Amino acid sequence: MKILVVGGGGREHAIIRALKKSPRCTEIWCAPGNGGISYDATCKNIPATDIPAMVDFAKAEGFDYVVVAQDDPLALGMVDALAAVGIPAFGPNAAAARIEASKVFSKDLMQRYGIPTAGYAAFSKAEEALAYLKAQNQYPVVIKADGLALGKGVLICQNEAEAAAGIKEIMLDKKFGASGNQVVVEEFLTGPEVSVLSFCDGKTVKPMVSSMDHKRALDGDEGLNTGGMGTIAPNPYYTPAVAAQCMETIFLPTVAAMQAEGCPFKGCLYFGLMLTPQGPKVIEYNCRFGDPETQVVLPLMESDLLTVMLSTTEGTLDATAVEFSGGAAACVVLASGGYPVAYEKGLPITGLENGQLATDAATVYHAGTARKGDALVTAGGRVMGVTATGDTLAQAIQNAYAATESIHFDKLHKRNDIGARALAALK
Ligand code: AMP
Ligand code: GLY
Repeated sequence: MKILVVGGGGREHAIIRALKKSPRCTEIWCAPGNGGISYDATCKNIPATDIPAMVDFAKAEGFDYVVVAQDDPLALGMVDALAAVGIPAFGPNAAAARIEASKVFSKDLMQRYGIPTAGYAAFSKAEEALAYLKAQNQYPVVIKADGLALGKGVLICQNEAEAAAGIKEIMLDKKFGASGNQVVVEEFLTGPEVSVLSFCDGKTVKPMVSSMDHKRALDGDEGLNTGGMGTIAPNPYYTPAVAAQCMETIFLPTVAAMQAEGCPFKGCLYFGLMLTPQGPKVIEYNCRFGDPETQVVLPLMESDLLTVMLSTTEGTLDATAVEFSGGAAACVVLASGGYPVAYEKGLPITGLENGQLATDAATVYHAGTARKGDALVTAGGRVMGVTATGDTLAQAIQNAYAATESIHFDKLHKRNDIGARALAALK
């Protein structure tokens, strides 16, 4: 099969490397891709959100299957547009992608179907949101822009002044554009967070190994929120008992709810969970693989990714094995100094040959790199993720950090405590 992966970050690189292991995959492309990905796939510089150009390209190249990995093309209906020209694709259609693309949609869905989540109210007028916040007078409170906001549309506000500033930023200043036409004001929950990615074919759901993201820029979960500075899998807080509870109270009801609403979910449904004292609750749904969760989940997958993906499109997931190794994985993100605010680009990267380390003890997933002649240079805030596996989580973490020591670029920033909290939880 000739396959196209749409996107251009570490997640897409991990998907490509997993797909390439499939005996059914004979040719693989990525659009737009990035410098490091180009060692593994033929890259074509089409923006992931340019639906007409991508569909034309897919038709012209005769792709057998397209994997839409990024949220915005999914929300914009790339899977629908490909289906209209007879090209099957992995991922939800636009109607099902609303589970991520509209917080109001997903909160209303959870409320209607009794799926545990933080209490909330939705508003399309700033005055009404402000009046509600004043009447509630409960802090911290969480304010979320309705639409996609590059992971930045969530504000945790400690008092009324902060909340008012947040409402203004989202609804009046339109910091996230039309994504802020509505807001959700949500109860603040506490507890360990768990990411569970799952395969869905509209009727059946099969969870992958659980994982833990590290969203803050600095050690000890200090500093600004980022796209993710590292991940580990499995997540030790996600015990078999918690997994069984999540399946019964969250996963199965969500898939059934989407079916009942006439928008069955096909693709990868990401459950962002918080294990609160009252039990597991949904913090967010994503309609796609997580980044950098994918970089620790797929290296542990033993079943053929392409076969499983195809089964979600064809509705045969029920009869398809989805198996993971009993080991662990860790991914340490190497970022540009200054990320997530301001950082330089174009800095030479050393220590890699054809995008990978000399050892196969770790895999490098490129997020923001570019090729400049024979050299590789930085081209983004998150430059790459270094993933290693091991029989135990401690080994995986040690292997990943050891591998990062061989890679250099000016102003490299990484966290030094990826997985530390997970290791402490295992003790
Ligand atoms: P999101 O972009 O929805 O994943 O939110 C970003 C982060 O904000 C989450 O990973 C949580 O740490 C935090 N968060 C979101 N909603 C809540 C909530 N209701 N209570 C506490 N923390 C939250
Ligand atoms: N790692 C969180 C996300 O992919 O949204």
